[in-house]
Amino acid sequence: MADTHLKPSPLRASRSGGLSGRLRPPGDKSVSHRALIFGLLCVGETTIEGLLEGEDVLRTGAACRQLGARVTRRGEGAWSVNGAGLGSLLPPQETLDFGNAGTGSRLMMGLVGGHAITARFDGDASLRKRPMRRILDPLVLQGARVLEQAEGGRCPILLQGTGEPLPIEYKTPVASAQIKSAVLLAGLNSPGRTVVIEAEASRDHTEKMLLHFGANVVSEPYGENGRRITLEGRPELHASKVCVPADPSSAAFPLAAALVVEGSEIIVEGVMTNPLRTGLLTTLLEMGADISFENRRIEGGEEVADVRARYSPDLRGVDVPAARAPSMIDEYPILGVVASFASGETRMRGLSELRVKESDRLAAIAAGLKANGVDCAIEGDDLIVQGGSGKVKGGGFVETHLDHRIAMSFLVMGLAAREAVTVDDQTMISTSFPSFRPLMEKLGARFA
Ligand code: S3P
Repeated sequence: MADTHLKPSPLRASRSGGLSGRLRPPGDKSVSHRALIFGLLCVGETTIEGLLEGEDVLRTGAACRQLGARVTRRGEGAWSVNGAGLGSLLPPQETLDFGNAGTGSRLMMGLVGGHAITARFDGDASLRKRPMRRILDPLVLQGARVLEQAEGGRCPILLQGTGEPLPIEYKTPVASAQIKSAVLLAGLNSPGRTVVIEAEASRDHTEKMLLHFGANVVSEPYGENGRRITLEGRPELHASKVCVPADPSSAAFPLAAALVVEGSEIIVEGVMTNPLRTGLLTTLLEMGADISFENRRIEGGEEVADVRARYSPDLRGVDVPAARAPSMIDEYPILGVVASFASGETRMRGLSELRVKESDRLAAIAAGLKANGVDCAIEGDDLIVQGGSGKVKGGGFVETHLDHRIAMSFLVMGLAAREAVTVDDQTMISTSFPSFRPLMEKLGARFA
């Protein structure tokens, strides 16, 4: 079993005085995984600045080594990758162990699926529960074979790729950047054109990176909210430099904390503001949050800004449309917490995908809110939270189910609730935001 999850380590967050100061969260997780993977696909040296050195990304780095890359740490967040080259990946000698990382494992399945190699994929207890059929189905259409799989198409999975992936046109069954990316990464080694159609646009970091590394990829509008992406196979990829902007999904925690902890004012620097990632900020502004954007600029091909957040005592409940879900899919746990401090009802619609994240997040959010005296309900795929107009009882013990975002969200709740909030385990926070505790403490957060 590839479970590296050792002893659970609980953490408590207590009501804090106003948070203040500036911080820069670590590099974006999605971009970090992709930077390493594209480095693997290029002959020559790819350099990466601002890489997230969280567990999930380090696992992807280790997998890149197993597939033939030289991956070297040069300094804090500074890495270089000397790749094996597209079409020349080596068969890994050992299982590719992705720990907790859905993104790393699924993107790598795409890569292996499009190469004439066989690899075994595995991870921790959380990853072993996550559905992989959604990735394997298109890969089989492209010519890969699933030699072994656990029940329901889950890890451990033994995947045999093909050196001649068929050019396919594939419509993703759910809005998922991971499915889209797996198909495109397999299609990179195809002699023809691969087309992915998504009815709702998901994050476009793979497309941006394909362009950055020299592939011929075109993304066009499809229907009302969708995209049609066409990739020419077998491009000549060029080793490049990647600068990773700060992760908006990590920035969400200090920003939300500043909104609900009385007397706070903070600035979060260099936050990626790619419109396919800013659904939470849009929602918070609709709720009346005091958030402003400064110093907007382009960094590493992505829009970024310094984001200022001030304590916002007059937050109002809102109706969050299902169409917004892809642009804030990882932010519902923290929105659930902010909604509990607002006045009135917040309804978050169309959250079925939350059931298949690092945990069943829909159930975990509702259970955590209830444990802290917040009135909430799940109706179909919607979550409805009744806000306490600035007052949340707290005092609960929250089960995180190996989910980093559940842990960080409820710790934020504890900073503003009347009674301290305890999460059962903080260890998974290191998968995406290893410096969460010290950075938050520097702002004035109280943890013990
Ligand atoms: C990611 C896509 C999203 C997101 C995940 C990162 C990516 O998953 O939840 O944290 O980097 O492609 P889905 O593709 O399953 O929506």
